[in-house]
Amino acid sequence: MIDSGTLSRTYEAHIAAVAEGYARALAACELDAVVVHSGSLSKRTSFDDQDWPLRPTPHFMHWLALPEPDAVLIIAAGAKPVLVRLEQANFWEAPARAESEHFWPFFDVIVAPSHEAMRGLIPAGRVAFVGENTAFADRLGLSRDACNMHALLRRLDALRTTKSAYEIVCLAEANRIAAQGHEVVRGAFEVGDASELDLHLLYLRATRQDDPETPYKNIVAMGAHASTLHHVGYQKTPSGAASLLLDAGATCLGYASDITRTWVKPAGEAARVFAALLARMEAVQTGLVAAVQSGEPYEALHDRSHRELAAILRDSGIVRLSADAIDAMGISRAFYPHGLGHSIGLQCHDVGCAVTQPAARNPFLRNTTDIAAGQVFTIEPGLYFIERLLTPLRQGPSAADIDWALVDALSPLGGIRIEDDLAVLASGVRNLTREHLPLGGGVVGSA
Ligand code: GLY
Ligand code: MN
Ligand code: MN
Repeated sequence: MIDSGTLSRTYEAHIAAVAEGYARALAACELDAVVVHSGSLSKRTSFDDQDWPLRPTPHFMHWLALPEPDAVLIIAAGAKPVLVRLEQANFWEAPARAESEHFWPFFDVIVAPSHEAMRGLIPAGRVAFVGENTAFADRLGLSRDACNMHALLRRLDALRTTKSAYEIVCLAEANRIAAQGHEVVRGAFEVGDASELDLHLLYLRATRQDDPETPYKNIVAMGAHASTLHHVGYQKTPSGAASLLLDAGATCLGYASDITRTWVKPAGEAARVFAALLARMEAVQTGLVAAVQSGEPYEALHDRSHRELAAILRDSGIVRLSADAIDAMGISRAFYPHGLGHSIGLQCHDVGCAVTQPAARNPFLRNTTDIAAGQVFTIEPGLYFIERLLTPLRQGPSAADIDWALVDALSPLGGIRIEDDLAVLASGVRNLTREHLPLGGGVVGSA
């Protein structure tokens, strides 16, 4: 838990910085005010009458952690922010409770009995709307042109890339909570023969989260399933697989953690080789974390991760070429197709750090910034046996340079990913994840 003194003190500075940033954005976009919508409930399917749980608009959550549908913030430069809550007509359900009450004194709160009353509170002048439900903007008398203006959103996204002390406190807490789930799942995998569904449910219980509250659907992948990067179709019966990749996070006041650990049981020769690969990947991941430095391009770290993976592929005998050739020929891309990491905050894949395109060789890289103080991002190199990506190699000119018998022996173990969340501070880099989970993975249990 975050102590209430820390929360109030850091939140006050956070809200002041957000207000200042909005004032600058409004001035740059020649706007008098912006209306930020919390979001509306949306149907799971138009054929039925059930709604998805609300995912509040992240720009709304940047101001306050209130998971309530159809509330708006009215932000005008120099004025105290106004929170307008719509009197809830829905008597079937009630909004989720706020996790904490610390934010109320910072807003003028008005309860509007209708959309018309809400509309009457919007100031005159040039007013923009931020939110997904543009029909809601219509009801407030705001035109479609005023909705999600590109120039404004670009500035608001940029504000979110530099985290305040309050946001780092929340992100650290989200890591602490997720770590409890990772520990419990590792223990259950070690001692028992749990299914993926069992491990998923254990994780939710240990982190006190309902499934829709997790920042993203838990990825619980045993054995070959780990070669599906986002495996979320859990097997319900124990498979007895010797490996586990758990990619799961938590939230605190809307802020996410995103953590992956990979474990293997020493069950036979393939598992022994896999364990050696895992140890090498752990060294690569911790080396990359140690190399994080303000001013350096994040993409250079991503490129380094490929050179280091290429060396592992060579040393393990999976690919019989030099590390330079493996990297230059793009072979490592078949074993590690995703980016090294991404900004994290109110969204697991947060905004603002991928405004420029990565190099063509890195199509899925989500962070192309120069590393700077205030950024929080993941470092998550991987090594997988993804048949869909290996097939072209099997049929291509390098086929004879790859030990397919070894690849086929390792494939039932799926793959490896090790993922930590890092906060870049003026004083250095803080690994929010390893404060609670000192190991990125390794060998557990017995065969
Ligand atoms: N959990 C999704 C990701 O690591 O990006
Ligand atoms: Mn991630
Ligand atoms: Mn992840």
